[in-house]
Amino acid sequence: MEKNDAHIIVLGNEKGGTGKSTLAMHVVVGLLEKDKKVAVIDLDARQKSVARYLQNRQSFMANGGTHVAMPEFAVIMQSGASVIKDREAEDQENLKTALDKFKDNVDFIIIDCPGNDTYLSRLAHALADTLVTPLNDSFIDLDLLGEVSPTDFQVKKLSFYTEMVWESRKFRSASGKPPMDWIVVRTRLASLDSRNNKRVHDALQALQKRIMFRYVPGLYERVIYKELFPSGLTILDLEKINSLSHVAARQEVRSVVDSLNVL
Ligand SMILES: Nc1ncnc2c1ncn2[C@@H]1O[C@H](COP(=O)(O)OP(=O)(O)OP(=O)(O)O)[C@@H](O)[C@H]1O
Ligand SMILES: [Mg+2]
Repeated sequence: MEKNDAHIIVLGNEKGGTGKSTLAMHVVVGLLEKDKKVAVIDLDARQKSVARYLQNRQSFMANGGTHVAMPEFAVIMQSGASVIKDREAEDQENLKTALDKFKDNVDFIIIDCPGNDTYLSRLAHALADTLVTPLNDSFIDLDLLGEVSPTDFQVKKLSFYTEMVWESRKFRSASGKPPMDWIVVRTRLASLDSRNNKRVHDALQALQKRIMFRYVPGLYERVIYKELFPSGLTILDLEKINSLSHVAARQEVRSVVDSLNVL
């Protein structure tokens, strides 16, 4: 692989609990199972969800579990400097140090952002080759992208988050990089095909024309996506699968990874 070739995938939105870290972990394992070298940068130093998931994965092996592929990983603390300029310079330096450490040795760098607007998160968005935004099945979450009329699905207003992504896109094209691929993935979908589900779908279709993202099928709400956290494993790591729901979950995760179009 050429130097500086690592593809950066950022998991981001500005709403807590939509499934960024869960999806990040599954994308990481999905890429590892394709024999890709992966590094993870966790920008959510308060929760460290992905870093903790990965520590559990290391412990699983250390305690006699079967070998599972591991990514490299780092957690970046937000700067505590009191002057904004110093804070931003420190955040920038820390992110650059982590990227420099990984970028020549891996195929993919996955960056998991916190569920709020931070300077580190903005920096990550500006670096994203692929931005993955998980969205729950609700009009409240849809507001994170833009205001859409619930009756005729007209897009009334774009959100601060969407404006920020557009700024990142402009920044990228000014620096001569290929366009960012922005993918919106629905997560925690209800298993019943509800009326709400359909309306969110219609609204997303209206939004995707206006904002230019790719809207792809995602993950249903399933216990298996949360119960494996203590073992550090994912549905992709399980050797034996004994329910139809698990077969569907594995298929779902692989479809999301495929839909990133990075392999
Ligand atoms: N598809 C899913 N099915 C079931 N539970 C899920 C699914 N996705 C996420 N969860 C659960 O939802 C909660 C929030 O998920 P997660 O931590 O991945 O979100 P997040 O966007 O990273 O949150 P934050 O913004 O706080 O970092 C967790 O308890 C997680 O286990
Ligand atoms: Mg998280």
